[in-house]
Amino acid sequence: MCGIMGYIGGQEPTKIILDGLAKHEYRGYDSAGIAVINHGKIEEIRTVGRVKNLAERVAEAGLRGEFGIGHTRWATHGGVTENNAHPHVSNDNRVVVVHNGIIENAREIRDELEDKGVCFHSETDTESAVQYLGYVYDGNPKEAIVKLTGRIRGAFALVIMFADKKEIWVCRKGSPLVVGHAGNAGFCASDATALLEFTHDVWFMDDDEMARITPAGCEFFDFAGRPHAKETMHLDWNAAMTNRGSYPHFMLKEIHEQPDVMTHTLLGRVASGKIDLSSELPWTAEDVKKFRKIHFVACGTSHYATMTAAQIWETFGSFENRCEVASEYRYRNIPADESTLCIFVSQSGETADTLHAARLAKSKGAECLVITNVRGSTIHREVGNALITPAGPEIGVAATKTFTAQITVLVLLGMYIAKLKGELLPETETRLASALMDIPAKLAEILKQEHDIEHIAREFADARGFFFLGRTLSYPPALEGALKLKEISYMHAEAYPAGEMKHGPIALLDKELPVVALIPKNDMWEKTISNIEESMARKSPVIAIAAEGDQAILQYTRSVIYTPVTEPELYPFLQVIPLQLFAYYVARQRGCDIDMPRNLAKSVTVE
Ligand code: F6R
Repeated sequence: MCGIMGYIGGQEPTKIILDGLAKHEYRGYDSAGIAVINHGKIEEIRTVGRVKNLAERVAEAGLRGEFGIGHTRWATHGGVTENNAHPHVSNDNRVVVVHNGIIENAREIRDELEDKGVCFHSETDTESAVQYLGYVYDGNPKEAIVKLTGRIRGAFALVIMFADKKEIWVCRKGSPLVVGHAGNAGFCASDATALLEFTHDVWFMDDDEMARITPAGCEFFDFAGRPHAKETMHLDWNAAMTNRGSYPHFMLKEIHEQPDVMTHTLLGRVASGKIDLSSELPWTAEDVKKFRKIHFVACGTSHYATMTAAQIWETFGSFENRCEVASEYRYRNIPADESTLCIFVSQSGETADTLHAARLAKSKGAECLVITNVRGSTIHREVGNALITPAGPEIGVAATKTFTAQITVLVLLGMYIAKLKGELLPETETRLASALMDIPAKLAEILKQEHDIEHIAREFADARGFFFLGRTLSYPPALEGALKLKEISYMHAEAYPAGEMKHGPIALLDKELPVVALIPKNDMWEKTISNIEESMARKSPVIAIAAEGDQAILQYTRSVIYTPVTEPELYPFLQVIPLQLFAYYVARQRGCDIDMPRNLAKSVTVE
């Protein structure tokens, strides 16, 4: 969703804020704005479009100040206009605010203030907060914010400056916000990655918490204004990880990082053919025997990672698994209790639906575990039990390397639980552990075919749409392949279990609708070939993702991307990179904005 950056310290703030906003741009990119305090006066510039437009406007205007805040927006309330862009300033020019989230009772507050003669100038929910602050502020920022947080409902990360105070205030409920301090400078941001060049020790704001940031330090309070101490969290990412390097897009860089990411993910968890997660998970054999049901809960790519893993788990253990999208799970009455292990998967650790689903499962007494890429993220802090995917910051809006890290962790987790339950055969453990250790090198092999994949992608970039077909273990990767294509190329793509095509979707097939068929060398090969034949009989061109050595597939299509051979259960690990590269090059051929696709934001912190 939106991205926020704030700075107060000895340096001129505009450059630091604009650089910070550029790092947040993947969270929202329809408009941007900045406000500084200059000799007790608020000065602000807002613009539609990207942060670079804002930087140009700031340079033209020669905006300078002592400290300031900025925002990059992903519109929720109110269209994409300069007027709706943040920061918003109170009518009396004493208070300025940037906001990430949704204030649900904004209309009510607005009506109440309008009745009192306060004029509004935008369609945003945020303006209700700033006008409210302007109305109640009497020189004591903390008291004004206590009143505000008692009045507004919904999700918010608010960053506030008062023209007559040399300090930045932040408050949070439901939307992420991180605070840092280094030397004589204080910072706040939506994403910790924006603070890495200044400090690695940060405070993640909790719900119902506010902070006062000054050059001298940070103080924390609850929403009643009572102070409390707060521990910092050390970040093990470095600033270089947030650069694109020589790659044209973050997505391509992140696709190429996957061999290393997988190696890091396995490190310390697999050794000498054995899986061991005992240093990360508190469970004993007795504990895991209690888990009669397993619920996987996630959104988007993370959901497809759970679907992939859940099927792999079935091959070595007797699990009662269900995979649910968080936005449904949280509103349905799915039985979960003390005998349920709920596994929440979220790259960002901030996805609102996944977080709410976790709260629900906790309230029902389920054992909860989170798999996240962001240590210290909200879901990590709230759930406690966690396995971290050490993929490093993922900046491209389309998730790539974190999918690979997630399925790696999930498969290790399943093997570990099955082992504790006494179900994992020692030979299966050794066979899969050693095959997993070999996967990074195989991913590197696939990346060497990038140009062939690009060639195929260019050939099909004008298709009317795509079907992605796979059976059993290849179906979840097919879903992920279709999602990648939709997200970044805006082409319609649907994934189906191949055997289901004849129950309806086959009616859509013709020569303009290619089929991407995932056909590894396993016991579904012949059945998938039949489905390929059905597609070809309807004149659909077929692109096959097949296993090395499969010459027979060439009788059906010349558009083949080969993956190395692996254990039958582990082909999903190898199928996804070709699909990511295919989507990437289709999108590139179509001239799409790959790292910031329209209408999307990296981290979905509102419902
Ligand atoms: C797809 C994508 C999204 C996310 C989804 C969940 O490329 O990035 O579908 O996977 O929004 O996000 P997290 O994993 O952060 O909870």
